[in-house]
Amino acid sequence: MAVPPMDFASQHHALVARVERGLAKLMPPASTRPARLHTAMRYSLEAGGKRLRPVLVLAAADLFAPVSKSTSRNPKSKMTDALPAAVAVECVHTYSLIHDDLPCMDNDDLRRGRLTAHKQFDEATALLAGDALLTHAFVLLTSAYAPQSALAIALVRELAAAASSARLIGGQMEDLLAEKNPATSAAGLEFIHLNKTAAMIEAALVMGGLVGGATTRQIAILRRAGRHLGLAFQIIDDLLDATADTATLGKTAGKDARAGKATYVRLHGLAATRTRANEESAAAIAEFKKLPGGSAFLVALAEQMRARSR
Ligand code: IPE
Ligand code: IPE
Ligand code: MG
Ligand code: MG
Ligand code: MG
Repeated sequence: MAVPPMDFASQHHALVARVERGLAKLMPPASTRPARLHTAMRYSLEAGGKRLRPVLVLAAADLFAPVSKSTSRNPKSKMTDALPAAVAVECVHTYSLIHDDLPCMDNDDLRRGRLTAHKQFDEATALLAGDALLTHAFVLLTSAYAPQSALAIALVRELAAAASSARLIGGQMEDLLAEKNPATSAAGLEFIHLNKTAAMIEAALVMGGLVGGATTRQIAILRRAGRHLGLAFQIIDDLLDATADTATLGKTAGKDARAGKATYVRLHGLAATRTRANEESAAAIAEFKKLPGGSAFLVALAEQMRARSR
């Protein structure tokens, strides 16, 4: 008897559960020496979070394989496992959050509904836990994909480029430079959003595609989709900072305005922010629809993200 396709919520739940299992399995135990450092790494990772980027890795990889059923001839059993790539992406993302929250950056006390790493431990431990998460991502990629060296190199290059001085770190630098700068232009803000946030979302989709065996054309579609989805994501993050409450966000609401951040809301106002978030989400969805293999999940994920901005 044919098994009915899972609905979006069940699929999403299953992917998040895969990510959580991957994190538990692929990260060093908290007791690893020095335990304080490994405890801090796990503290920030295990605080939860939406797991958007690792879910994108898994969902993109799954696009290029027939949906599995539990038979011994399961076509997925021969597929390369995308989980180490997904965990590597979440490591880099979580490092960027730990450093983003430091007193010398955004100076935040709350993250993922918990005290930030530097509040729970201390600044030096938070700094080192971030460094260690970043480094571990590349240990994971180079160990897990070593038997497929071309794939390993492509994954390392993709993640390193996304996290580089030209992209994530460059975006963070300009974000700080734009603080309290009334002259920040729309183009300046676009640079910040494209790099501090969209780079990693783009990399997540592309890395999933690389593991799944996407063609060059399909990788280009995933990259464009990621760019639009990433812009929508940061625009919505700016919107929620201005409109949602701390309990809902699990991080301090209203912080951007108090810090004088250059945000989409500050530059363009609430109405234009919602319009642009919708446009970028729609553009991502249009790209997803060009992909094979039931991109319905990714379309629904983009729709759900867009719904956060209403
Ligand atoms: C927060 O990312 C940083 C931004 C790029 C806005 P998320 O909102 O995905 O944070 P978590 O992973 O769910 O905690
Ligand atoms: C953070 O942007 C982007 C990165 C961590 C790279 P924000 O500073 O807006 O993220 P939140 O709002 O603190 O999560
Ligand atoms: Mg920031
Ligand atoms: Mg911040
Ligand atoms: Mg924010």
